[in-house]
Amino acid sequence: MKDEKAVLKLERISKKFGPVQALKDVSFSLKKQEILGLVGDNAAGKSTLLKIVAGVYSPDKGEIYINGEKVNIESPLDAQRNSIEIIYQDFMLTPNLNAPANIFLGREITSNWGLFKRVQRNRMREEVQKTIQGLGLKIDLHKLVGELSGGQRQIVAIARALYFQCRIMLMDEPTAALSVAAIKDFHPRVKKARDNGVSIIYVSHRLPEVIDICDRIVILRRGQVVRIVQASEITIEDLVEIMVGAL
Ligand SMILES: Nc1ncnc2c1ncn2[C@@H]1O[C@H](COP(=O)(O)OP(=O)(O)OP(=O)(O)O)[C@@H](O)[C@H]1O
Ligand SMILES: [Mg+2]
Repeated sequence: MKDEKAVLKLERISKKFGPVQALKDVSFSLKKQEILGLVGDNAAGKSTLLKIVAGVYSPDKGEIYINGEKVNIESPLDAQRNSIEIIYQDFMLTPNLNAPANIFLGREITSNWGLFKRVQRNRMREEVQKTIQGLGLKIDLHKLVGELSGGQRQIVAIARALYFQCRIMLMDEPTAALSVAAIKDFHPRVKKARDNGVSIIYVSHRLPEVIDICDRIVILRRGQVVRIVQASEITIEDLVEIMVGAL
């Protein structure tokens, strides 16, 4: 039985960038153990909304509730404290560090060494190796992230989000740069995370994949929610029509 309670609730979130109204009165809930799709045309406001929940931007207006309690998420650290992890569309990795250093940035595994704390680089590398292998993938963990391909960087971003146990996972186009084989391995992982209790917002332009892995789908058009549908009850054609405003 699924717990129908809202883990995350957004109420009338609005955000302007100069004259651009990126979001207007966006309200919806994410239930416990749900994969909620978030779709819309380019510039609909999807990434902006995820970044607000992740503490990168603050909304001009609106409220965020976690498990029924109002929260102020004013920084990415606040989001982490609320057990929110994000895979950014634009990666947000540090190019001059390798994958393990990126994944553990600010949350390094340390041991006490006399009066000092010592960063356990080998431990971190082993942990990352396990996580990436668990995804059926492989990358060179000694290479700087700036030297990796787009798809390989995406793997690092996914590993970072999956490594830390979280309650809410925000995924912004997680498969955009992944190979077909890597996507096949990734989807069961997303469903497994949900079955283990994580609630997920999943942004993607790949509509068949959204219909396939999501429970419900929120459709944004020009910064506003136009429809929330059950994934099992919608066709790709109808989804597109609603996204562009023909339905
Ligand atoms: N940092 C910013 N400064 C100024 N304008 C921004 C900024 N971030 C987003 N915008 C604007 O806000 C609107 C929504 O952008 P957003 O990136 O949220 O769209 P999106 O739905 O994620 O699009 P895509 O599908 O192309 O990723 C766009 O008009 C964009 O130009
Ligand atoms: Mg985006």
